[in-house]
Parts: sequence; C-alpha cells; structure tokens
Amino acid sequence: MSGPRLKNADKRFVWHPYTQMKDWQQDDNKVIVRGEGFYLIDSEGRRYLDGTASMWCNVWGHGPNEVVEAMREQLNILQHSTLFGLASGPSVKLAEKLVKLAKGMDRVFYTDNGSTAIEVALKMALQYWRNMGKPRKEFVSLERGYHGDTAGAMSVGYIKQFFSVYRPILKKVHRIPSPLLYGSKFDSERDLVEHCLEQTEKTLRKLRGRCAAVVMESGAQIAGGVVIYPGRYQKKISKLCEKHDTLLILDEIATGFGRLGNMTEYVAQRSRPDIVCFGKALTAGYFPLAVTLAKSEIYDAFLGRYSENRHFYHGHTFTGHPVGCAAALANLELYEKRNLMQQIKANSQYLESRMCEFEEIGTVADVRQKGLLAGIELERNGKPLLYLKKERLGQFVARESLKMGVHLRALGNIMVLIPPLAIDKNNLKTLLDTHMELAKKAEKL
Ligand SMILES: Cc1ncc(COP(=O)(O)O)c(C=O)c1O
Repeated sequence: MSGPRLKNADKRFVWHPYTQMKDWQQDDNKVIVRGEGFYLIDSEGRRYLDGTASMWCNVWGHGPNEVVEAMREQLNILQHSTLFGLASGPSVKLAEKLVKLAKGMDRVFYTDNGSTAIEVALKMALQYWRNMGKPRKEFVSLERGYHGDTAGAMSVGYIKQFFSVYRPILKKVHRIPSPLLYGSKFDSERDLVEHCLEQTEKTLRKLRGRCAAVVMESGAQIAGGVVIYPGRYQKKISKLCEKHDTLLILDEIATGFGRLGNMTEYVAQRSRPDIVCFGKALTAGYFPLAVTLAKSEIYDAFLGRYSENRHFYHGHTFTGHPVGCAAALANLELYEKRNLMQQIKANSQYLESRMCEFEEIGTVADVRQKGLLAGIELERNGKPLLYLKKERLGQFVARESLKMGVHLRALGNIMVLIPPLAIDKNNLKTLLDTHMELAKKAEKL
C-alpha cells in the first residue's frame, strides 16, 4: 500500500521553514503521506529512513503503538480544555511524573513548543527578580547557542546568519565562549574549559547584581555546530551561577530524554539549574508540547495577592493540551516498559565504535559524538566545506540522501546524525553507511 496519492493536490501553497522557496523544485518535492517503523513513505510509495528523527524529536518511529493508542483514548474522552483556571487529568498526572523525573524541579509550566518554553523561562527569570524586589534585566548565553525562533529565544540563541535581520526585535545579550576545541586556539580540553570558565566569571562579575540568568543548552549544543561539552564544564558553570547569585536556565529540549545517553542530561552533568526546559521527544514527537520546570524558590516568588501583580502573565490557547499530555505520559511509560535507555546505551556504543571510520576521509576535519548524536565536520584547504562546486553542502546532502532512501539534513558544513531514539541496530548501520558514502562523494566533488 503506498498511501493516498496526491495527483490533484497543488504543492505551491506551503511556505516551508528555513527554505529558499525559489529553489524549491515543485516536481521533486516529496510529500510524506504515511510512516511505517523508522521509515517515511511518500505519495509515490517511496520509502525513506527517518534520519533526522523528524526534526530531532521522534522516539519510536512511525505507526501505531501505545502512545498513539493513549492519544486516541484521550481524544475520545476530552479533546481539549484550557488550563486557564482549570486543570485536566493528563496535565496533572504528567506534571507529577515530570517532577519525579527531574531532580530538583518542583513545578511544571506547559507550552506548545521548545521556543515558547524558552520564552517562559526568560520571563520567569525576569519576573522572579522583580518579585524578589531586586530587578535584573541582563542575560548571558553561549556563543553557538540555539534556543528557537521566537524573539526571546533568538536573542539568547543568536546565530548571525539566521537572525541578523530580526535584530530590531531582539534583546542584546552577553555572550560567553562555547567549549568547542576544534578550531579553537587551545591544544587541550582542559585549557579550553579553563578559558571558558574564566570568561564566564569575568562576565558575571561585570554584571554583578544585574544578570537575571545564564541560559545554555544542556550537555551539548546541536544547531550551533554539534558541540559536546567536555566533562565537568556544565557542572562548573552551574557552580559559577551559584557563586555569583544568578539563575541557571538549562535547555534540554533537544538533548534530554536519552539523546545524549541520559534521561535527564543536567542530572548526569551534576549541574543544578533553577529552570529546565524539555520538548521534542517528550511526546515521542507525536504532539507539539513542551514544558518549563522550575524550582520551588522560583515558584514561591510568584505567590501573593492579585493586587501585588506577582503572578505569571503567560499562557497559550493550547497550553498543556490533554492529548499532548496523554502522549507524554504513555511515552514515558514506554521508555520504562521497553527499557529504552539500555537500548540507547548499546546503540551509542556501536555509533562510537564506528565514528573513527570517518577520520579516514580527506575532507573530514573533526568528528564529535555523544549518545545518539554525532556531527561530522567537513573542511577543504583549512576552510569549512560549505559548497560543493556551486551547490550548498546542505542541498547536496538532502538530495543525495533521498536518492539513497534516507532523509538527512546537514548543518552548514556539518553532517549530523540524529536518529529516532529507539532506532534498531540495522537501521542505525544504514544511517551510518549513508553518511559515510555521502562524505566520500563530497570529498570527490
Ligand atoms: C536546543 C533547542 N532549544 C529550543 C529549540 C526550539 O524548539 P521548537 O522548534 O520546538 O520551537 C530547539 C529546536 O531545534 C533546540 O534544538
């Protein structure tokens, strides 16, 4: 069965994200109509291994399973009701579960996507200090950070190429270095980390009494170039935040729930955030839902009489959608039932054991991997390999991978391996082999 055909559907009306629509070949466009296991199936019946985990969020692949069943059941009982002034069964149960899972966190605020979970975190931090009678307006974030595409998220996760045009609506943020050894002036991770910490401390000293929070991805930066944090780096940043009495906001939207081999990365990193954001894999990628978790010290500062205006002014129509919460609950149960973290550990080891094969390809300049995340950085004549002849590496990878029956997207000059979290070994092998073949092809062009 190839799924519904789309003979009469006109594809021109969709404006695609991060896409130059002038280059968009209407005839070439693949329209995905169905999913089966780890494969996406287009309107012509062709199958593609979901090598991007459908934008880094898919856990179980595609098709019916317990999560889908829970969503169906929830749709039969209650399709949607608001959290403004009311609770819903799934939102209550999920919050309890998340608080148990996320050590040190006491309350859960729901949103619809990762970007707005970050907006919530930033607003919470600002208002926390205001409510404490010590207003603070500055934020510190990492170079190469990415936190989403809404205004606050773009401000703290500023990537020049993406966001410079939107500067009029962005807030100026203080940057600290990202701990990437490759391309840095340092020979050892130790020296690099020391430098990053020194710069962070210098910035926090300069902002004494003015910094609302340090914002960073937890465990690794992905969109900014697959930067895996060296051991103890995050823990030390966390300590600096405590020392300089500023909040730490950790973004686990892309790195939590097993992506780096740990259920909660900030716990594995032995860091102590005040606010943590989760999204993406939270619902196995089946429903747009994200959360911002806060410690009780933050939450308590929002309590008071209405007239004091201490309460949090944030909420969306679909905040804490019951179908999304039901999906997340079933997803977390399935993690336990299928012992997913064990499987991720085994697959991570396999991935690690094969990463060295890339180093034999002439254009591969650096290989970085942790858990089920890997980045293969390409370079030619000492410069990032962004173009192959006149074509961007990203376009080449997207087109050629589809021809090979795999869907992939590169990040600038970096090929990124980020499979569905429950991928089986055979499909992981296919994914690795596809990357290898593409890297070899790119070398020859
Ligand atoms: C670390 C990180 N934070 C936030 C976001 C934004 O999430 P969303 O795309 O759901 O808005 C992303 C998306 O890729 C991300 O990687």
